[in-house]
Amino acid sequence: MRTRVAIIGAGPAGLTLSCLLERHGIDSVVLENKSRDYVEHRIRAGVLEQGSVELLEEAGVADRMGREGLVHHGIELQFDGERHRVPLSDLTGGASIVIYGQTEVVKDLIAARLDKGLPLLFEVDDVAVDDICSIQPRVSFEHDGRRHELECDVVAGCDGFHGVCRTAIPDGVLTTYTREYPFAWLGILAAVAPSSDELVYAHSRRGFALLSMRSPQLSRLYLQCRPEADIALWPDERIWDELDLRLGVPGWDLAHGPVLEKGVTPMRSFVAEPMQYGRLYLAGDAAHIVPPTGAKGLNLALHDVGLLAEALVSFFGTGSRTLLDSYSWRCLGRVWRSEHFSWWMTSMLHLGWDGDKYEEKLQVAQLRYTVASPAAATSLAENYVGTAKA
Ligand code: APR
Ligand code: PHB
Repeated sequence: MRTRVAIIGAGPAGLTLSCLLERHGIDSVVLENKSRDYVEHRIRAGVLEQGSVELLEEAGVADRMGREGLVHHGIELQFDGERHRVPLSDLTGGASIVIYGQTEVVKDLIAARLDKGLPLLFEVDDVAVDDICSIQPRVSFEHDGRRHELECDVVAGCDGFHGVCRTAIPDGVLTTYTREYPFAWLGILAAVAPSSDELVYAHSRRGFALLSMRSPQLSRLYLQCRPEADIALWPDERIWDELDLRLGVPGWDLAHGPVLEKGVTPMRSFVAEPMQYGRLYLAGDAAHIVPPTGAKGLNLALHDVGLLAEALVSFFGTGSRTLLDSYSWRCLGRVWRSEHFSWWMTSMLHLGWDGDKYEEKLQVAQLRYTVASPAAATSLAENYVGTAKA
C-alpha cells in the first residue's frame, strides 16, 4: 500500500485531517485500532469554539452540526449560592460556542470519509511506525488477519495520549511537561431536558459540578470526585443528590431523569515538545492533554490539524517545507495558552480535599472578581471562545 499521508488514529484530529487533505486532493489512509461502533459512541467533549466550527465547515462535515448544534452566547459561574452569567459574545465582539457532542463530530467525519469510499481501516492491530527520519516512512499493521505495510511521505500521529506515535520518537528528543491533579470527573448522560439554557460551572463547599447538555432533551452533568472513585459506589440516586447539593441555588431545581451513561474520567495536564520529528507530526491528544474544565481538548486537536493540513498542502503543492518545519512552533503558542487556561479554570473551581479554608476563600475571591470586573470577565471569555492571543 502507498499513500501521501498515513494518519494513525480516527479520533477528531485524524479524521478532520483526512477530510481537510482530501479537499485539497491529497490522499491519506486512516488507521484506527478500535471498532467504528466504539469510536462513534465514546462519550467525550461537547463544546466547539467558533474556529473549530469554521474548520469543520471547511472540511465539509458541518451540515448536521449546523442543524442540530446549540449556539450559546454565555456561560454561568456559580459560587457562594449565587449564579452569575458571563456574556461570552458581548465580551468578545460576537464570538459564540456550539454545543455538539464529540461523538456526533466523529460520526459526521467517518460518514464523510466512507461515503467517498476513502481508506479508513478500523480494528487494525500492532501498528508500528518506522523510518520516520527518511523521506519514505513506513507504517506496518495487522488487519483482517494479515500484516500490511503502508509506504508514505508523511505520518500524522493522531493516536491520542496512549498511542504509539509519540513513543516512536527516540529517547532524548522530547521534553515532556506534566501536571497531575487530585481530582477526576464523574460524568453522566441523562435523558432529561437541561435545567439551564447555558452551561453552569459551580464551585461549592462540596466540590465542583458542571451542568452541560447535548440537546434540548439530553443533559450532560459532571461532579468533581477522587481519581480512584469507584463508579459502582455511585448509584444514580447518590449522583443526583450530590448534583442537587452542588448546583442548587434558591428558586431553582435540577430536573432528574434516567441515567443513560456514567463514568469516571481522570484529569491531567501534559505537553510533549516538539510536536514533530523527521516526517512524523503529532496532533491532538498524542501531543498534549488538558483537564476538561476549560473545554479545550477537542478544540486544541482541531487547531493542530488545521495548521498541519495547511503545511501539508503547501509542501505537496509547492515543495516548500517552511510551514512543515515550523509546525510545532506554530502549534505550541496556543497549546500553552490552552494549558494555562485549563489549569486556571481547574484550580479556581475545584476544592482541595484537605479542607484548606484559605484556598477556598482565594477561589471565591477570584470567581467574584471574574464576574464583577469586565476586564477579568473578558479574559475568561476570550480564552473560552478561543480568541485569546497566545
Ligand atoms: N493504532 C491505531 N489507532 C490508535 C492507536 C494505535 N496504536 N492508539 C490509539 N488509537 C486511536 C484511538 O482509539 C482513538 O480513536 O487513536 C484515536 C485518538 O483519538 P482521541 O483520543 O480522541 O484524540 P484526538 O483525535 O487528538 O482528539 C482529542 O479527544 O480524548 C478526547 O478530550 C480529548 O476531546 C479531545 C479529543
Ligand atoms: C461537556 O459538555 O461534555 C463539557 C462542557 C464543558 C466542559 C467540559 C465538558 O468544560
